[in-house]
Amino acid sequence: MTGRLWGLGVGPGDPELVTLKAYRILRDADVVAWFAATGRESNARRAVAVHLRPGQEELPLIYPVTTETLPAEVSYEGLLAKFYDEAAASIGALLDDGRDVAVLCEGDPLFYGSYMYLHNRLAAYYDHEVVPGVPSMLAGAAVLGTPLVSLNEMLTVLSGVLPADELYRRLVSADAVVIMKLGRNLAKVRDCVERAGLLARAWYVERATMEAQRVLPLADADAARAPYFSLVVIPSATAPGR
Ligand SMILES: C[S@@+](CC[C@H](N)C(=O)[O-])C[C@H]1O[C@@H](n2cnc3c(N)ncnc32)[C@H](O)[C@@H]1O
Repeated sequence: MTGRLWGLGVGPGDPELVTLKAYRILRDADVVAWFAATGRESNARRAVAVHLRPGQEELPLIYPVTTETLPAEVSYEGLLAKFYDEAAASIGALLDDGRDVAVLCEGDPLFYGSYMYLHNRLAAYYDHEVVPGVPSMLAGAAVLGTPLVSLNEMLTVLSGVLPADELYRRLVSADAVVIMKLGRNLAKVRDCVERAGLLARAWYVERATMEAQRVLPLADADAARAPYFSLVVIPSATAPGR
């Protein structure tokens, strides 16, 4: 019998925000797989490190590239597709051996999570289940401690990677907004938020629920770039101020 594939949402970073179900599956898994950048600790693993069994088998999946600039002849998408093919093959071999594999994913696995690329390659062939996790955008709203949306208001989730005109167009018609993936897009995002007249209620949240968490008005976030684990939260205008 083949093993079971788990897409395990582990939440935004605080080990206490791991669900009871994720905890049980993590402890029972034969192999725990996680993604990380070269030479960097896996954030998803850090969130569950205190919950791992001593000596539990792990499978690191190390990205060949992250945000670096590549030579023109090298395709970023091509490198990642090959990486996910190889990662899926490694996990498939474990599943064929009858071993249960839990793939850790920060936040929720199907909300911009890398697990989905393995899921797309493996779910048709193996028994599998996705365990939802607390998404970072809701952790971001929680650490602000102010309502995000209420009644019939709409929440818009945007990627900071979008071109400035597209970001602006979506911001001006939004009730409440979360902007993910800031990185080197921080200055562009701040400009667009200001142009859309939303800067006064926009917050910058870095490493939500982790030990190094930082929360400040977006207007004061003036670094050239933001760390990977950062987002912007703009609660609706009807929310009481922070
Ligand atoms: C690839 S997406 C993964 C999202 C994740 N699956 C989730 O459910 O939140 C990565 C982006 O999530 C956001 N993010 C994830 N964890 C975060 C945290 N603890 N604090 C702030 N932003 C976070 C950042 O915007 C980051 O660029």
